[in-house]
Amino acid sequence: MKIIILAGGNGTRLFPLSCDRKPKQFLKIDTKMSLLAETINRFREIVAPEDIIIVTGNKYVNMIEKELATYNMGSIHIISEPMRRNTAPAIGLAVKYCREILRCSEDEVLFVSTSDHIIRPKDLFNRAVLKAVEFAARGKFVTFGVQPNKPETGFGYIEVGNDLNGAYITKAFKEKPDAVTAEKYLLSGRFYWNSGMFAFTCGTYLKELFQYAPKIARLLKTDYAQVVKNFVDMPDISVDYAVAEKSRIGVTIPLSLYWSDVGSWDSVYDVLNKDENGNVIKGNAVTINCKNNLFFSKKYVIAGIDINDTIIVENENVILVSKRGETQKVKKIVEKIRDNK
Ligand code: GDD
Ligand code: MG
Repeated sequence: MKIIILAGGNGTRLFPLSCDRKPKQFLKIDTKMSLLAETINRFREIVAPEDIIIVTGNKYVNMIEKELATYNMGSIHIISEPMRRNTAPAIGLAVKYCREILRCSEDEVLFVSTSDHIIRPKDLFNRAVLKAVEFAARGKFVTFGVQPNKPETGFGYIEVGNDLNGAYITKAFKEKPDAVTAEKYLLSGRFYWNSGMFAFTCGTYLKELFQYAPKIARLLKTDYAQVVKNFVDMPDISVDYAVAEKSRIGVTIPLSLYWSDVGSWDSVYDVLNKDENGNVIKGNAVTINCKNNLFFSKKYVIAGIDINDTIIVENENVILVSKRGETQKVKKIVEKIRDNK
C-alpha cells in the first residue's frame, strides 16, 4: 500500500491566517504540528516513510521539505506539479509516479488523503484505513462517510445502499450540492459527507479515468517526465467531479470518529476549547461581557466590550470581523480584496 497525501490546495478559507503563501495544511490548529505533519504522523503507524508520497504544487516543495526535516520524518517522496490542476490530475500524476518510478504493480492499493483535516483517534482511523484497503484491493473505489449534522454545502454527499458488513455500496455521490439539496439530503438520513479520502488500486483509478475523464487518462499514457511536461493541458477538475460522482464501483466506509475539515473560522471555533463564557481566545484579547466569540490575534491586542457570537481574526495587517455562522463567505471577501487591489 502507498499513501498519497494531497497537499497542493491553496486554501483561502482561513484568511487572513491562511493565504496562497501559507495554505491551511501548513497551519497548526489545535495541533502540536502543522495539519500536514499530523497527517503524516497518523499514517506512520501503519506504513514506512518510503511508502508515503506527498503531491503538491512546486511553490510548496521547499516548505514541505523543511517540515519533513524539522520533524525528522524520513525519506518521504514529494511529487511537484508544475501548475495547479486540482485533485483528479494530481492523483493521476501520483499513480504514474508509483507505477513508473516506484515500480508498483497495477494492483498496488493507493490510499489518498487530504493534508489539512483534524482526525482522531489514530487507532480508530487506521482501522478504517485497513478496512478500505481490503475493499480497494478487490477493485472498489472506496470513500469514507462522515455523519452529517448540518446542511453543509462545502462537502460532497454520499448516498449509501446495501450493507457490506461494516461498509456500504455507494449508491450516489453528489459533490457540493446547493443549500436546498443539502437540507434534503440531511433530512433523508441516507447520506454521509464525503471525508475527502479515497482508496483504490493504481489500475482501478486509471480505468475509472479512462471511462469518465478520458482526457486525463490520455495525458497519463506517456512516460512520467512527459506527463509532467504536458501537465498544463490537464483539465482543472477535482476527483470528486471527475470520478466519484460517476463511478459505479463505489464502496463507502462510515467513519465513526472525530473528523473536522477545519474549513472555516466557524469550524475552528467548534474545534477549539472554550472558556467559561464560550470564548475561544488565541493570542491576546481583553474582554468585558463577551460571549461565544473567537478572538485570534497575532500581533495586536483585541479589546472587546459586549461582543457576542463574533469571529475576529487579526494577522498581517488584516482584521477579519464576521458574525459566527457566516464565515463561509470569507472566500468572497478574499476575492473582493483582490479585485480592489
Ligand atoms: N496536489 C494537489 N494539487 N493537491 C490539491 C490540489 C491540487 O491541485 N487541490 C487541492 N488539493 C488538496 C488540498 O490541499 C486538500 O488536502 C485536498 O486536496 C482536498 O482539496 P480541497 O480544496 O480542500 O477540497 P474541498 O475541501 O473543497 O472538497 C473535498 O473535501 C471535502 C471534505 O473536506 C471533496 O473531496 C469533498 O467531496 C469533501 O466533502
Ligand atoms: Mg478541504
